[in-house]
Amino acid sequence: MSVLLTGGLGYIGSHTAVEMLEAGEEVVIIDNLSNSDKKVTNAIKEITGKDFKTYIGDVRDEKLLRKIFKKEGIDAVIHFAGLKAVGESVKKPVEYYDNNIGSTVALLKVMKEYGVKNFVFSSSATVYGKAKKMPIYEDFEIGGVTNPYGRTKYFIEEILKDLYVSDNSYNIALLRYFNPIGAHDSGLIGEDPNGIPNNLMPYITRVATGKLECLSIFGNDYKTKDGTGVRDYIHVVDLAKGHVKAVKKLRGNCGLKVYNLGTGIGYSVLDIVNAFNDVCGGKVKYKFAPRRAGDIDECYANADLAYKELGWKAERDLKDMCRTSYNFEQKHSK
Ligand code: NAD
Ligand code: WQD
Repeated sequence: MSVLLTGGLGYIGSHTAVEMLEAGEEVVIIDNLSNSDKKVTNAIKEITGKDFKTYIGDVRDEKLLRKIFKKEGIDAVIHFAGLKAVGESVKKPVEYYDNNIGSTVALLKVMKEYGVKNFVFSSSATVYGKAKKMPIYEDFEIGGVTNPYGRTKYFIEEILKDLYVSDNSYNIALLRYFNPIGAHDSGLIGEDPNGIPNNLMPYITRVATGKLECLSIFGNDYKTKDGTGVRDYIHVVDLAKGHVKAVKKLRGNCGLKVYNLGTGIGYSVLDIVNAFNDVCGGKVKYKFAPRRAGDIDECYANADLAYKELGWKAERDLKDMCRTSYNFEQKHSK
């Protein structure tokens, strides 16, 4: 049986494809290349030495989905495909609802037609909004999101819960990722955003390689140890391995499960910059700038449930996250 990875040429999807193939799974990818490159297919093949099928197309295209399900013997789906830029989602809410929710609904309809009931969803720590205390557990209240992107994640979680209530023979894992950074050790795949990056690590790597001048640290007056924002950064390879475990869990008929995928450690922006400067020899210049609208002081997980139930925990440290991000940027980005 094969696992369908929607958005499998993207940042997290490509690393998951590698880990799935290395775990002996058959993989099929669908991606519309809206935020990725066809060349990633070859990189995944080069890393793993394994072959797999890639369909270039949109997950909202039900006809194409039917063709894939008919042909490929899919027994589980990992749904990465979606738009993910918070700021852009405020400007283009309809595109975000259409793409993120539309693709999920199309998938669920076609999965039903073909009797496929194992589903992993790429959710996000953003569904917790501004949590009242730290660390964040899976049973904390969700829904206090402040932007259309975050709302798509929250709404999709609710859709999947409704589906499970209607038919509890589904097995659904809602994986709430914290802040994925880092890249594959090979430097062949990683995060390569178009234009000026919104997220911290891609901005840092571009300053370190001279493509951008100076990092602006958004706010140094938060209620944190050094005044800068605190997040739970997780190595993308660890995150990818979590998906391999989640698919195994689904196949054991687990019902609907929610897991935080984070390290459980909160690092500040300055921690990240300092760790990165250790790795790259101090090339990251920074200045303090005003807070970014919508940002919260801190956000980090309790990830014990994933360890207890999936046997998964993050193993790579901050130095490794910085080293591999830098390696990828030096080797591959535009
Ligand atoms: P990404 O943009 O690198 O990957 C998404 C992939 O989906 C891209 O290759 C894109 O071309 C494809 N895609 C988008 N819409 C599509 C559609 N309608 N049909 C087919 N393909 C489509 O993003 P990523 O960082 O790998 O994120 C993967 C998932 O994880 C997303 O759903 C994202 O919201 C979620 N997530 C990401 C983060 C993060 O910080 N990166 C954190 C939490 C959750
Ligand atoms: C991290 C920290 C910034 C850039 C976002 C989404 C979230 C999830 C992950 C998908 C914050 C600071 C950043 C910069 C800075 N994605 N920063 N200068 O905001 O925690 O989460 O990505 O689900 O939904 O909101 O990540 O990397 O943008 O910021 O000082 O140039 O770095 O203020 O404290 P964030 P980020």
